[in-house]
Amino acid sequence: MTEHRRALSGDWYTDPSIFAEELDRVFAHTWQLVGHAGQLTRAGDFLTAAIGDQGVAVIRQADGSLHAMYNVCQHRGHELLVGDAGSAQSITCPYHAWTYDLDGRLLFARGEQVGDLCVPAVRLEEMAGFLWVNLDDDAASLAETLPGVEDELLAVAPNATGRTLTHRRTRRFDANWKIAVENYNECYHCPNVHKAFTQGVVTPGSYRITSRGQAIRHSAEAPTDTAYAFAEGGQPYEAFFVFPVSSIQCYPGEVLNTFRWVPLAVDSTLLIREWWFDTDTPTDEQAELIDLDWRTTVTEDFDLMDSVQRGMRSRGYTPGPLIERPDGIATVHSEDTVPHLHDLVLTALGHR
Ligand code: FES
Ligand SMILES: [Fe+2]
Repeated sequence: MTEHRRALSGDWYTDPSIFAEELDRVFAHTWQLVGHAGQLTRAGDFLTAAIGDQGVAVIRQADGSLHAMYNVCQHRGHELLVGDAGSAQSITCPYHAWTYDLDGRLLFARGEQVGDLCVPAVRLEEMAGFLWVNLDDDAASLAETLPGVEDELLAVAPNATGRTLTHRRTRRFDANWKIAVENYNECYHCPNVHKAFTQGVVTPGSYRITSRGQAIRHSAEAPTDTAYAFAEGGQPYEAFFVFPVSSIQCYPGEVLNTFRWVPLAVDSTLLIREWWFDTDTPTDEQAELIDLDWRTTVTEDFDLMDSVQRGMRSRGYTPGPLIERPDGIATVHSEDTVPHLHDLVLTALGHR
């Protein structure tokens, strides 16, 4: 009998002290997707995002550049920018009305002299128009972390840089973030669970998932009868997952959509599902696809994840054998990316 690697034990998904360590050692040191430059066209346009439990903001400056910083007032800590996105000529804290320039320098403290204060900046990089933040000043650049990924993405979505946010839908669910990204990165469950996806978006036999460091690439081909009119059979499906919680997907027909997961607690995660077309409202055809995806694939996964989280608390659960292929490339009959994700977490937490 083959020796199988085992799944992680339940405490990795239920122990708040492990979750706290992950916020510190995984989320504060990795690149995470926060949006797209197409959302910030004019000076003063901003978006906010969560990197683990840390709020950040990205703001278009008067000179056209983009600036990212912690979203926290340097007086007594109120969040500076409120809401997912907006526009401001300067930034006035909602609490005591101290005012900051768009790059986080304090301009005015209600007439008091309080010295030079500045909101700490965070690292921001762009990949094919998508915006990424890393809280670690010493981390390797995005391009070094994900060699080749930008070119691969642009090869399947040449106009990715020109896209904007067309649709966003979010939902909080009751599972640890690792359950979400393990589920996302294996298609071993696809033929059993995702009928709409495996009949209308990809051909299951063509599905391959390859792990390369912090990047996990999914590739497949569209079936002859695609689920929506603007794709054709045989066109590529590609997804680029980036550890720990971001993924850019290109559906057949150059349809770009993303997954972002925000860890809220050891057993609670927020999914942010976004679609990137040319305008800020979807056409009827686009809206139909967006709705189909949410009703089928996305909702099917919520049910799986909530159930697995309950399983992690079960006294009857012993970590089970994982199904791997000799070449390490996952198909719909294996889950090779799951132990890969475990290695990334275990290494970050100093367990190997
Ligand atoms: S906390 Fe922002 S002005 Fe007081
Ligand atoms: Fe799934």
